[in-house]
Amino acid sequence: MGAGKSTLGPELAERLGRPFVSVDAVVEERTGSTVAELFAERGQDPFRELEERVAIEILTRRLPAVVELGGGALGAEPTRIALAEHAFTVLLETTAEEAWERVSPGDRPLARDPEEFTALFEERTPLYEAVADGHARDLDGVVLAASGIHIWEGAIDGLGGLAPGDGPIELVVDAGVETLHGERARRALGERLEAFHVVPAGEQAKSVGEAERLWSSLRLDREGTVMALGGGSTTDLAGFVAASYLRGVPWVAVPTTLVAQVDAAIGGKTAVDLERGKNLVGSFHWPARVVIDQELLATLPPEELRNGLAEVVKSGLLAGESLWELETAQQVRRSAAFKAAVCLRDPLDRGARAQLNLGHTFAHALEAASGYALPHGRAVALGLLAALRLSGLEDDARMVQELLAPAPAEVDRDAAWAALGLDKKAVDGRPRLVLLEKPGTPKLGVELDEREIRSALDALIA
Ligand SMILES: NC(=O)c1ccc[n+]([C@@H]2O[C@H](COP(=O)([O-])OP(=O)(O)OC[C@H]3O[C@@H](n4cnc5c(N)ncnc54)[C@H](O)[C@@H]3O)[C@@H](O)[C@H]2O)c1
Repeated sequence: MGAGKSTLGPELAERLGRPFVSVDAVVEERTGSTVAELFAERGQDPFRELEERVAIEILTRRLPAVVELGGGALGAEPTRIALAEHAFTVLLETTAEEAWERVSPGDRPLARDPEEFTALFEERTPLYEAVADGHARDLDGVVLAASGIHIWEGAIDGLGGLAPGDGPIELVVDAGVETLHGERARRALGERLEAFHVVPAGEQAKSVGEAERLWSSLRLDREGTVMALGGGSTTDLAGFVAASYLRGVPWVAVPTTLVAQVDAAIGGKTAVDLERGKNLVGSFHWPARVVIDQELLATLPPEELRNGLAEVVKSGLLAGESLWELETAQQVRRSAAFKAAVCLRDPLDRGARAQLNLGHTFAHALEAASGYALPHGRAVALGLLAALRLSGLEDDARMVQELLAPAPAEVDRDAAWAALGLDKKAVDGRPRLVLLEKPGTPKLGVELDEREIRSALDALIA
């Protein structure tokens, strides 16, 4: 009571594209009386019976929804069981004082006396703790908890406890990261660490050969967990290996680059590359946990930080918030929550998730035309410029130019144009673009005149 459920709930539902269902509101609708009236007319017990029936009915419907449960609903064991079986339960953290300030002006029957209110708060807290699958204090926190994402500086030291269950863990680590952070991760995993496997640094790891090497050396059964420590290349490889080994074992991502912390490690897309192109063999396999420690970014070369900043700018433009102006730890938290919400909304990339391609259609074409010599961050920055110009958002294009200052790509114009038509999302060789109506309002599947697209592409090339 007074934790902020009625405010956060509808906002969360909007972000996840799910209906918001308040158990109290359904009870009120069915009885034609307010909760306060029901308490006054019938007393607490009949209200609790009705509340329990409605809560179980809603929880067992198995339709994706954001459900708000009244403060006293957890007193009923059947409701607690239904929560455990059918829901991910987030406890909104608050203090008795904060909650009292919020509820005391209203007419809630159990919030009339501050001392009784505090006693009830203290009595209920252990019950809430017992059913909570995650804890949060704000909207981003709820999304992160529901996505299995744990973010804090120093989180790497808690790895042993953050991995699901208590089974063995095999660690897959990028060769460059191994020398910098490998020892710390191994120490944190303690006895749960069964084996560790060093894979080549960066994109070199994303090959069928490396996947095969891992499949052959893993000794885990399905009780075990694969853990990836590295950038997006390592999380893509290890996630794909976890998706396919023994037809799927759980995995945990511990991203160490800004790109991976705000993007690659989130949302369950995993893949390796073929000669013919990047990410052509892969799978959707949502990590059981993502453990993000912003401290690990301290060792990242500036070029890699710039790559990540381009993704932060993309998320900010899509969210309609200047996330790039925040300090890095907050950039990571906000961008990770943004991506997680989009992916929860559309886990299999059949709709809303396409917005994450903002600027990437052009970026992929430039990267392909450069034989993948063009750094990804620079390609994304150039791609964002094209998308913003085609959206008619010159001010935002100027911001990208000033902040990311991407030098034009030195690639063959015809090769880039051909690559644009080969984009995975193109239809009949014609690219379908993600543009913005305005920051915060993406437009998906936009088809423009070929000459307009070609001239936007040409403007990115030296
Ligand atoms: N699955 C997805 O949704 C998704 C999204 C975006 C990108 N990706 C993929 O991610 C890959 C790119 O990943 P990336 O940009 O994270 O880089 P990366 O994994 O390729 O690593 C880049 C370099 O940074 C080094 N490095 C990593 N962490 C470090 C640290 N903390 N300190 C010092 N050096 C460190 C690595 O050793 C490597 O040399 C691409 O293959 C891309 O396709 C996947």
